[in-house]
Amino acid sequence: MQVHQGPNLSDLSDLCTPWCVHVAATLRIADHIVAGITDIDGLAAAAGCDAGVLHNLLGHLAGKGLFEEPAPGRFALNETAQGLLDPAQRLGLDLDGIGGRFAPAWGTLLAYVRTGKPAYREIFGLPFWEDLDAHPDIAASFDALIGPVGHGAATPEFRITGGWESVRTVVDVGGGTGALLAEILRARPEVRGTLVDFPRTVARSGEIFRAASVADRVTAIGQSFFDPLPAGADLYLLKKVLNNWPDREATAILARCAEAARPAGRVVVLGSVSPDDAPRRLVMEMVLLGGKQRTVSEFQDLAGAAGLEVSAAGQQPSGAFVVECRPL
Ligand SMILES: C[S@@+](CC[C@H](N)C(=O)[O-])C[C@H]1O[C@@H](n2cnc3c(N)ncnc32)[C@H](O)[C@@H]1O
Repeated sequence: MQVHQGPNLSDLSDLCTPWCVHVAATLRIADHIVAGITDIDGLAAAAGCDAGVLHNLLGHLAGKGLFEEPAPGRFALNETAQGLLDPAQRLGLDLDGIGGRFAPAWGTLLAYVRTGKPAYREIFGLPFWEDLDAHPDIAASFDALIGPVGHGAATPEFRITGGWESVRTVVDVGGGTGALLAEILRARPEVRGTLVDFPRTVARSGEIFRAASVADRVTAIGQSFFDPLPAGADLYLLKKVLNNWPDREATAILARCAEAARPAGRVVVLGSVSPDDAPRRLVMEMVLLGGKQRTVSEFQDLAGAAGLEVSAAGQQPSGAFVVECRPL
């Protein structure tokens, strides 16, 4: 008899466990345990939920290795459960915040695969960015997730052709709440920066720039990157932006960068392009937004249509895959 060594189909298709993890995170069960509440009635009272159902849920998770149940109806944290105390994990899992958009969005996967178009609005009534516009609390939770609390400290260590010496001005297009721009300016005192993102998002950047002591060298502009961008900067940065958009919109964003960078600026793309032979993967922004991770060849076509020429592309020692473009 052959011994089956591959992954187990039941485990691979289990939806119960991920939902239980999200619910435990949303109810802050780990925090209540750390605060000394360990019995199921106390936990249910603290979390404001049904004790019997919570017991089943935590029992299931303990069986999967998240939490321990040292005595019936008593729960303790193990190392894995300690992860639920991490603010970054909380932001992504919390069903009352952006986690409550990401997790159910997987329910649109069949429609997305069948049509090639995101079906987010079938669940939430609006496309993703418009849904955030309509729900300021969820938008705040998204901004926090992509900011330093969620995604961690930004690293400004990517190389550009000829070095940073010739760069005096940087525009971070779709730069979120400014974490990367703050680190670039902190590392390079001669550089001035402009942050471009939605008004609600750039409004949250002040504290990040002040904490990095760069507030006097930065301008924050709340506008759409589909509108004309501040012109004449040396470098236009697009980090984890183009991978959120189908070809037509990604080309339009690049065209705005090309127009603003002309004649002598350049456009640097991070986190959206992979080597031609990179394995293909399905990730959240594809399901949410119809986004695309592009190979260098695919990106070259897009850049050309936007009036840009790819002048360098490659993996750097930091692991970042960096693409540089010049206006045609
Ligand atoms: C995945 S986040 C990346 C943020 C940042 N560059 C980073 O790497 O952390 C995409 C960003 O695009 C912004 N964005 C989406 N649509 C936009 C638009 N039409 N105009 C300006 N910014 C937009 C979002 O608010 C968000 O900050």
